[in-house]
Amino acid sequence: MLWIHPLLQLAALLIAIRVLFMGINRFRFQHLKRKCPFDWKGHVKYGKVAAWLWMAGLVLGLYMAQQSWGALGLTGPHYDVGMLMWPFILVGLVTGYILQKPSGKRPGMALVHGASNAVAFVLALHQTWSGVEAVRLLLL
Ligand code: HEM
Ligand code: HEM
Repeated sequence: MLWIHPLLQLAALLIAIRVLFMGINRFRFQHLKRKCPFDWKGHVKYGKVAAWLWMAGLVLGLYMAQQSWGALGLTGPHYDVGMLMWPFILVGLVTGYILQKPSGKRPGMALVHGASNAVAFVLALHQTWSGVEAVRLLLL
């Protein structure tokens, strides 16, 4: 059971890589006026999968830690950064849901959306690195 969280979050990260590259294309089109293709529906669909997986995985990580060791925070920085992540994922989700229907241009909100998801992505990279350490210490 303890393996579900790491595997889920790894899957979410792989999907997020693709979603981020799509978003960077949109950024280049919208703000840098470059000609770039943007798969709007695909970004929305896989963006939802990645963000909701991150959220579900976070809750599961907390739950499994509490169930197994009766305490939270044993993983140190992995716990701290995990708790830092959810507000960014939430802002990315809320703005994403508002932006998902093309209704004129909202470059400001798109920027907030892109930035908070980019921060979440960088934090997820940190989680992978510290998560591997957690697997070695606690699971193997
Ligand atoms: C890991 C998750 C995600 C990442 C890394 C991500 C990243 C980005 C980035 C970098 C942009 C470009 C922002 C800009 O041009 O200033 C963007 C645009 C967009 N994203 Fe996401 N996104 C994610 C999830 C989502 C979700 C869950 C939704 C919908 C529910 C969504 C809907 C959109 C839409 C509609 C745009 C175009 C907005 C516009 O140009 O008006 N994204 N995303
Ligand atoms: C978005 C990415 C991630 C988030 C937000 C996240 C968050 C968390 C949180 C909040 C906990 C509870 C920690 C505690 O109470 O000390 C946890 C536990 C844990 N995390 Fe992560 N994590 C992520 C990715 C990963 C990855 C990629 C791995 C492994 C490669 C991993 C491995 C672990 C392990 C082994 C635990 C112990 C509990 C369990 O196995 O279910 N995490 N995580």
